[in-house]
Amino acid sequence: MQSSGSASIIMNNFAIVPVSRFAGSSAAIRRPKEVAYFSYDDNHQFHLDERSIRYYYPPKLGADLSKGFNTFQQLDDTADDHLDSLLKTIIDLERRTSTKCTADIVTWRGMMTKIMATPFDNMNGFEMNATRFQDSIFIEENHEHKLESKKAQHNQSSRPGAPSQDLMAYWGYKFEVLSLIPDQWDPTSREFIEGREDVIVNNYAQYCSVVKTGIGKAKMVIGGEVDALWDRKPDNKDDSINWVELKTSAEIENDKDRLKFERKLLKFWIQSFLLGVPKIIVGFRNKNGILQRLEELETKNIPTMVKKQGRGTWDGNLCINFTASFLDWLKQKITGDGVWRIRRRERSAMIEIFKNEESGHGDILSREFIQWRTQG
Ligand code: A3P
Ligand code: MG
Ligand code: MG
Repeated sequence: MQSSGSASIIMNNFAIVPVSRFAGSSAAIRRPKEVAYFSYDDNHQFHLDERSIRYYYPPKLGADLSKGFNTFQQLDDTADDHLDSLLKTIIDLERRTSTKCTADIVTWRGMMTKIMATPFDNMNGFEMNATRFQDSIFIEENHEHKLESKKAQHNQSSRPGAPSQDLMAYWGYKFEVLSLIPDQWDPTSREFIEGREDVIVNNYAQYCSVVKTGIGKAKMVIGGEVDALWDRKPDNKDDSINWVELKTSAEIENDKDRLKFERKLLKFWIQSFLLGVPKIIVGFRNKNGILQRLEELETKNIPTMVKKQGRGTWDGNLCINFTASFLDWLKQKITGDGVWRIRRRERSAMIEIFKNEESGHGDILSREFIQWRTQG
């Protein structure tokens, strides 16, 4: 037991290394199943419907991803939204089904991605807040830490002549606009597809899927954005959904680039694995942001591809086992009332947790959610 600063009471560490103790065949996993969804519209207003679902239709190669950068409408995400939209969606689900949506862990997909990538991502730290309420642990990102890391990333000087971080982020959104249509393809889509290059890019709209899933003994409810549908949702709600994740990446020209891409695949894989997204479409672009080629990756094949054809820089089963152990441990630690911090500092060999507030749930849980769950 260690003491850390004035606010914290008890500190506990979960050792990341040696990672070899998490090797071997993977712990049990539950296939993610969508239980609810919500959309943010073009003004980023929340709706309990699927209005922001988009469909994949391949983009034209040779497109200039920088086009329209000066008119980019970028969402101001400086406010802390906590878990609000996810909790609203859970309330609605429970109201409609008259059944409590139970889980050991409730969080955004982004938090689980950070945790799962930990054994092979030494460079990025994270800070999260967690609280226990009615047998579930709710985890949110620590907003101050998020803003600080964003600022640090923004201030990172790019190599002379290299595109700015902002421009590269734009390329990702532009690629989405060039690859999406608002409805399933029909002959009238042709006109829309022709006009995609001139659409003003904004990142306000999102479709978010809320899934039930599980790793090891931990049952989870997680919410996260999905980029597109390949065809349409299946009629049978138990069947998996043909989601598509879109990604851009620098064209691979040498072994160093290949290694860099393999490392990037770790996050691509985890992100899609967690929500049950079966396909990832990578738009490779050159240094000037010109779209060169597309590659379709099957999410489930990525770990084997990295092991057998790549350099084996990461191991998917190990990530799963690490997550199963960590969540098990977390469930034993976060027991009473209060707010806990979960922190991994950059390059640190452990994840620390400590209690930050003795009682209550901080701002992790909305008043609306607590009221809903305690009213009867
Ligand atoms: P790329 O992934 O093609 O770079 P997502 O891939 O999760 O759907 O996100 C869409 C785009 O948002 C990304 O496209 C990238 O442009 C931008 N983006 C997402 N997360 C980001 C981050 N942490 N920093 C900068 N840009 C980010
Ligand atoms: Mg996305
Ligand atoms: Mg994407």
